[in-house]
Amino acid sequence: MSTSCTLVIFGATGNLSQIKLLPALYHLDRGDHLAPSMRVLGFGRRDWTDEHWRDEVREILGRQLGERLDGVLLERLLQRLHFVEGDLEDDAGFRRLAQRLADDDGLPPNLVFYLAIAPAFYGETADRLAACGLSRPNQGWARLVVEKPFGYDLESAEILDEHLQRHFDEEQIYRIDHYLGKSTVQNVLVFRFANLLLEPLWNRNYIDHVQITHAEAKGIGKRAGFYDGVGALRDMIQSHLLQMLTLVAMEPPPSMDAEALRDEKVKVLRSIRPIPRQAVHAQAFRAQYRAGEGRGAQEGIRVPGYLDEEGVDPHSTTETYAALKLYIDNWRWRSVPFYVRTGKRMAAAHSLIAIRFRHPPQQLFSDTPIEQLKPNWLLLNISPNECMRIELLVKQPGLTMRTQTERLDASTCSVGRDQIDAYEALILDVLSGDHSLFLRADEVQHAWRVVDPVLKLWATERDFIHTYEAGSWGPAEATRLFDKEDHDWRDVLDE
Ligand code: BG6
Repeated sequence: MSTSCTLVIFGATGNLSQIKLLPALYHLDRGDHLAPSMRVLGFGRRDWTDEHWRDEVREILGRQLGERLDGVLLERLLQRLHFVEGDLEDDAGFRRLAQRLADDDGLPPNLVFYLAIAPAFYGETADRLAACGLSRPNQGWARLVVEKPFGYDLESAEILDEHLQRHFDEEQIYRIDHYLGKSTVQNVLVFRFANLLLEPLWNRNYIDHVQITHAEAKGIGKRAGFYDGVGALRDMIQSHLLQMLTLVAMEPPPSMDAEALRDEKVKVLRSIRPIPRQAVHAQAFRAQYRAGEGRGAQEGIRVPGYLDEEGVDPHSTTETYAALKLYIDNWRWRSVPFYVRTGKRMAAAHSLIAIRFRHPPQQLFSDTPIEQLKPNWLLLNISPNECMRIELLVKQPGLTMRTQTERLDASTCSVGRDQIDAYEALILDVLSGDHSLFLRADEVQHAWRVVDPVLKLWATERDFIHTYEAGSWGPAEATRLFDKEDHDWRDVLDE
């Protein structure tokens, strides 16, 4: 069970709070992970009483969880909820907050400030908290939780960190990349470091290349205000995909404590070969979706192109698809390409880490009907279903010497287990003070260093962007990133 504290949610009535934080708190409470005296204080512009806020949350959770909601447990959670009216841009609300925290004996003195608000407000919210003495309270501790995006590029990320660190020490800050809360992503670490079998193969001598794909079937929806001008490279690759890459590529840490883990991830990011300006076109590709056929929830429906989405500048060259080829210049990975790609409105919603092994050194079967041996693949499927698969060649039954691919498939190992949302794991870690799954300032900055040269060049090329049809696997031209002729995107598990 976590330590008792008061969790203050800024942006309590916003999207993140409704869709992720409140359901996560309900589930944590249901599992008895929250200390009995823990309280949640919503901070928002509405002039609401605690009772009104509880009514709102009752309705929100009813909408989000439907029949899975247990009335008795819901009431238990609601009793933890309180509300303070305040505007992020007005000192008065922060003073009210400080007063309430000081006066109300029911509110534990340990404080978690969750900034579920637009990143533009992070700095001044930290200023206002500090001005009321809340960033370094006399009694108990204070923690600050911030969500990506952390800045817009390297420079703005450094400025943001400098701003937050004026009031909060690094160990008080929890930077969330919700991918690290996904159990399948954490499973990459267990898979690598709890099984001896693969470690001898986990290097340039046996691995030909690595692919990390995050494809989404949905478009940008109503997020044009955020997305246009940001694009896929910043939104997904700088954060989630580079995080997955670090887990695949890192050395075993000396221990699983937060600093040891983060040190190893930083080493990977620092070893990524910088992309010089003249190599950007060879190592990075961007494109935008045009109209096509929807997939997933919009299967078969005609969907608009990016430029026709509500709120998008009709001349925008913001990318909805981005792919990078990266090299990690260290002993283990030198010369092994890591291809990472992401896109909206792709053929399926699918996140996959695909590792292709080299061909055996000798083509022993060359004078048989086997012409080209297919390579072995190791597939770690992140979503929609958790799955791990190894593809091996075996002889086809029969008199002729032919091979076929057999799959060692562990898709069933998670069936029947409760799926835990990333936010549950992350909130619990914040409450218990565990930084392992949160990004350190230098980690964020090194990730920006990787993508910055690409962003800088793309920012100057505003006349043209490749397109791909909505519902497809992305632009065919992206294959120009590949090092070898036999490299190709691994789109789905079954190929
Ligand atoms: C967010 C991005 O960080 O991650 C979104 O801003 C993206 O654009 C989302 O859709 C993907 O997360 P998940 O958990 O749905 O794979």
